[in-house]
Amino acid sequence: MTAKIIDGKAIAQEIRADLAKQVAKLTAQGRTPGLHVVLVGDNPASKVYVRSKQRACEEVGIASTVHRLAEETTQAELLDLIERLNADDRVHGILVQLPLPGHLNEEEVINAISPAKDVDGFHPINVGKLQTGTGGFVPCTPAGILELVKRTEVPIAGQNVVVIGRSNIVGKPVATLFLQENATVTICHSRTKDVAAEARRADILIAAVGRPKLVKKDWVKPGAVVIDVGINRVDGTIVGDVDFDEVKEVAGAITPVPGGVGPMTIAMLLKATVEAAAKA
Ligand code: GUN
Repeated sequence: MTAKIIDGKAIAQEIRADLAKQVAKLTAQGRTPGLHVVLVGDNPASKVYVRSKQRACEEVGIASTVHRLAEETTQAELLDLIERLNADDRVHGILVQLPLPGHLNEEEVINAISPAKDVDGFHPINVGKLQTGTGGFVPCTPAGILELVKRTEVPIAGQNVVVIGRSNIVGKPVATLFLQENATVTICHSRTKDVAAEARRADILIAAVGRPKLVKKDWVKPGAVVIDVGINRVDGTIVGDVDFDEVKEVAGAITPVPGGVGPMTIAMLLKATVEAAAKA
């Protein structure tokens, strides 16, 4: 059996087309959604991500502004910018691209963003709302993963979901989202005794650990849905956390890298920005 390839690029395109219509309506009411992205320093990967976000905003009609700050920007300067964006009615979403240069305090910066404009869903208020299932912004990659799985039309309630990786950006929030969908959720990490054995129990396996081709064919239950969140640069090419060529022979459905989760992350960011503007 060869797995169905889950085409994140095509699904993200459909979502962007829907969003473009909503943006046109908001714009006609004089409420063009506005996303402000803050990029500090010269991290090459961050520059690429920010450019993709900007292009996607342009495509759907969201007004995007990128604040490019020098590597040596001080904490006070960064906090001052966030305060100004918090106070500006034309700004509906604020995203500070991570990681920040080492001398800056990431936690303090995230805490300074107004929770109502925190389209990344990283502010502790939004993290808490996700835990209690009481609304708020959800981190974009987990939201995109849930959307992809829902569109494969496999049931989620009662299924075993295994997440490899426990980051605050992906592993923990995606586990919470699937728990809310009534899945039985296991989170694996570097101290898990036998990750392969846990993974083999998964009906839906989510790899978000940043280890190239970690997940092999014998880690996957035949017919399972496999979601690959990894973006690893190896010898100039991008590979996921899943050994795609072997795992596609056993999985029921699988996301490619690139073209799986990545485009969905950006689509969910745009969606959050449009929602923030609609509520403002
Ligand atoms: N760096 C890598 N992923 C992300 C993300 O989703 N949001 C932000 N702000 N920075 C990131």
